[in-house]
Amino acid sequence: MISQSTIERILEAAPIEAVIGEYVTLKRRGANYMACCPFHNEKTPSFSVSPSKGIFKCFGCGKAGNVVRFIMEHEQLTYVEALKFLGNKFNIPVEDKEETPIEAESRLRRDSLMIVNGYARDFYANYLWEEPAGRDAGLSYLRERGFTEHVIRHFELGFAPAAKDAFTRSALAAGYKQDLLTATGLTIHYPERENNPETLMDRFQDRVMFPIHSLSGRVIGFGGRTLRNDKQASKYLNSPESEVYTKSRSLYGLYFAKQEISKAQKCYLVEGYTDVITLFQAGVRNVVSSSGTSLTADQIRLIKRFTQQVVVLYDGDDAGIKASIRGIDMLLEEGLQVKVVRFPQGEDPDSYARSHNSRETLDFLNKNETDFIHFKIALMADEIRDPLKKSALIREVVESIAIIPDAITRTVYIEESSRHLDIEEMILTREVAKIRKKRAEWTNRHSSRTPPPQLPPGEEGMQEAQLRPGTAELSRCEQDILYYLIKFGQTKLEDMTVSEFIQNALAEDDLVFQDPLFLAIFRQYETIEGDDASRKKFFFNHEDPAISQHVLDLISDPHHINLKVLRESLSLEEPLLKENVTKALLVYKLKVVSLSCADLARDLRQAQQLGEEDKIQTILKELTVMMDVRNSFARELNRLK
Ligand code: CTP
Ligand code: MN
Repeated sequence: MISQSTIERILEAAPIEAVIGEYVTLKRRGANYMACCPFHNEKTPSFSVSPSKGIFKCFGCGKAGNVVRFIMEHEQLTYVEALKFLGNKFNIPVEDKEETPIEAESRLRRDSLMIVNGYARDFYANYLWEEPAGRDAGLSYLRERGFTEHVIRHFELGFAPAAKDAFTRSALAAGYKQDLLTATGLTIHYPERENNPETLMDRFQDRVMFPIHSLSGRVIGFGGRTLRNDKQASKYLNSPESEVYTKSRSLYGLYFAKQEISKAQKCYLVEGYTDVITLFQAGVRNVVSSSGTSLTADQIRLIKRFTQQVVVLYDGDDAGIKASIRGIDMLLEEGLQVKVVRFPQGEDPDSYARSHNSRETLDFLNKNETDFIHFKIALMADEIRDPLKKSALIREVVESIAIIPDAITRTVYIEESSRHLDIEEMILTREVAKIRKKRAEWTNRHSSRTPPPQLPPGEEGMQEAQLRPGTAELSRCEQDILYYLIKFGQTKLEDMTVSEFIQNALAEDDLVFQDPLFLAIFRQYETIEGDDASRKKFFFNHEDPAISQHVLDLISDPHHINLKVLRESLSLEEPLLKENVTKALLVYKLKVVSLSCADLARDLRQAQQLGEEDKIQTILKELTVMMDVRNSFARELNRLK
């Protein structure tokens, strides 16, 4: 543990723009910096760094966080490692907080349990390779299954002797304490003689042993497979949960796969131990197993440390697949991209890879990788023809999409589903937005974790001052401009796009939207890429329901549609579009200036009442200038009308 005060010192000493600046080229944009995102491929910058807030955010891929998060992501480090990395860089000594005696004891005990497990691994491996009984039973079985000597050693497989207490006796003789042996679950008491401490036996007897490794490669538990075919003995027996092994928090094979997963930016997820090993042997090394259970949130987070993309490999039976759809939704919820490969009826990855060569296996995986949406739809292909069932299916697809945290990913899925379900994108988009809005409202109402943001006392006054008369009209003007920006932003006027035209016009007069929501939309627009349609979609699917809802309303606002729809159908003609945008900008500027004039007039009256002669003169001068500006805007506007 690193103490809170050390963490604070590191955060103070490590300016986020300096740290990130070493990895990407930052360009100043107002108070922030922009760059091309180091976490995904892009040509125009959507990665923003805010020195004042100490955070980065990519509007493209959604990655966001503070300086520690950046280092964790970029260097693939854990939280503590990233802190040490930064401490080292900025000369802040980082000592792990002194352990309490209890913490120290727990660490020592965990350590001991892993040492015992390590001893067991060696014992079982030795039995497999060196003892005739082990070779006859275990090694020949593994070879029969097609495992090479290399993978057997690589995965540290072993064999547990048939004798009831061979392991326990050997471990005790080697000096391992009885309570550690039972704490790992490797040794158990005879069930019928539980109160007699002298009667111990091995949990694993006559089984092929698969050690389960921690992320750093230490053994935390075992899976043992029986070689018998009788239905009595359960096929796999696993270590019980212990201080070092929690089934829901470990993934079989991750230790061997993590680098490959990170390199390939893809993680194959299979059901069983043997699937991992056979695929590994076939050259697919970025593969892990959930050990037969459905995925847990902790396991997903483990995968997420290395990649955002998971490919779930299913064997061919429908029942199993339908049951595991929930697992897919969990992956989506955690923000992962999910693909699916379905194996032929009766085959699992292990059997497939055994009956095909490595090339064929890889080809099969690549060719059959489908998006989860296709997969879901294909699963229910029969139901699509029945209109009632189809609407239920649409509902389900929409629900799944709404779970996805990232806006761009949602957009992609909506496009896909629209094609496959033969439904207009706009309808799906609306449905998804509705669900997200409902969920956001629900979370806001029920969550005590995130209270509504509270302004520090000093800023409240500012906020109020902005709510002067005319604010609503000003918002209306800003909304009109946003309408043109979002709907036609990438359309070319003579020598620039509508977006550039608007940006320039506002910059010319140092104008910044006063409505925080509109300002947010306006600023984000600058940071995204693509044509009008895809930018529109970005906002429709925005993670902030306030934004997606507003843009949807804006685009379908009757105010615009009724009055302007006719003109718009003509406005493919450049001059008219340009005229409309110019007009919206002028109306806005006029409004801003008029409001300033009103403010000045009020100040003037006040100064006159107080008889402040100097002040009266200054205000009068300002007011004259303002009125001039106002009149010139008004004249220009009249010319256009
Ligand atoms: N499993 C388990 N306990 C069981 C059965 C299964 O823990 N009683 C887990 C194991 O991790 C196993 C996975 O679920 O690897 C998948 O089970 P299954 O498909 O039955 O086994 P396979 O991995 O296919 O094993 P094999 O190929 O040796 O039959
Ligand atoms: Mn199998």
